[in-house]
Amino acid sequence: MIRVRRSGPLSGTVGVTGAKNSVLKLMAASLLASGRFTIRNVPRIADVRWMGELLERMGATVAHDGDVLTIDVPDTITPEAPYELVERMRASIVVLGPLLGRFGEARVSVPGGDDFGHRPIDMHLKGLEDLGATFTISHGYIEGRADRLRGAGVLLEYPSVGVTENLLMAAVLARGTTVVDNAAREPEIADLAAFLNRMGSGITGAGTSTITVEGVDALHAVEHTVIPDRIEAATYLAAVGMVGGRITVEGARADHMDMLISKLREMGVKLESSPEGLTALAPDRLRSVDVATLPYPGVATDYQPLFMALLAGADGVGIVTENVFGGRFRYIDELVRMGADIRAEGHHAVVRGVGALSGAPVRAPDIRAGAALVVAGLAADGETLIGGAHHVERGYQDLVGNLASLGADVAYA
Ligand code: UD1
Repeated sequence: MIRVRRSGPLSGTVGVTGAKNSVLKLMAASLLASGRFTIRNVPRIADVRWMGELLERMGATVAHDGDVLTIDVPDTITPEAPYELVERMRASIVVLGPLLGRFGEARVSVPGGDDFGHRPIDMHLKGLEDLGATFTISHGYIEGRADRLRGAGVLLEYPSVGVTENLLMAAVLARGTTVVDNAAREPEIADLAAFLNRMGSGITGAGTSTITVEGVDALHAVEHTVIPDRIEAATYLAAVGMVGGRITVEGARADHMDMLISKLREMGVKLESSPEGLTALAPDRLRSVDVATLPYPGVATDYQPLFMALLAGADGVGIVTENVFGGRFRYIDELVRMGADIRAEGHHAVVRGVGALSGAPVRAPDIRAGAALVVAGLAADGETLIGGAHHVERGYQDLVGNLASLGADVAYA
């Protein structure tokens, strides 16, 4: 349980860890070569621990010392991702590409739905089929086979992050050239491509919507430093936006957060980027804006709950449109319990800013909604008690400690 009391203005400097959504894929990519991988700037969070468990189950040895993760990958592994691990973390589906690429076989539990609703994997399978893999699904498992994958043109129906990643990891060891069109452009994709290229692959265009992969025969283990977590950085910026103040988020990369910065500026936050990071100066109360989530470089869906919290307290009316995940509004009722005036219909939510929220016991349904409830609690009268704190710990190494270091009244209860 996380306890938050009305706080602010915030002040001081806070750092961010490496990006969760990048490191999980780099860990999967390590299956593409044997030897010792050293990955730096790795957050100590549950998702990293679980991906480590999955790699260990396959036969790798994983150690996390400070922020350095070492993965020793043997020559042969058991290419299987069991139900109890995939069920905990759907991102494990990204082992499918590397397993098929290197070992020509994979047995991966079908991930179920989650708090964002129905989460299909059709595009993962279709993209890998374009490279020559075949799949059968039985007893809750996807069984994939491929002799050696062959390069092909793959046109994605939607620029899915996970599908783009799975395809890159499958294509690097395929025979010939793969061109992925309508690829996702998130900074984490470019980080994965940098990691794979360091391993010896030939990827160009990562970060744009057309990515070309020249297949190679073998890859080797490498060292790599993960890019900073833009969602964690956004969380601290939202916190100062909620209650005002002046903070610096050390290590935040403005070039990965252009749209967020532009939206926060529209709301009245002054933001300056320097080699050190991002400095934000926020007034007591922000102005409302409309926000619509989209694939990168649009407003990230992972920022959406943070914007909802900001708009709940802001001056005016804002419309939030969620275009990426069907069921990502489920936490709204928790904000309403805190006095927010939000009406959701389909994938639109109308948020009328109420100024002061009111502290209440609430429940975090997922990582980012949990963080948004903590942020909302900073501007709420009395005490907000957030249950389901383990969700928050999946994605943040020390959200509570970091917010407290900025002067927020937040602690574990
Ligand atoms: C990743 C991030 C997640 C982020 C999301 C969008 C990780 C671990 N997670 O998730 O935090 O919110 O990107 O930026 O990196 N879809 C299909 N069929 C498929 C695959 C996806 O219909 O086969 C749909 C999804 O249901 C969703 C949309 O595509 O509606 C986008 O999902 P995707 O980009 O794949 O997100 P993830 O990679 O799962």
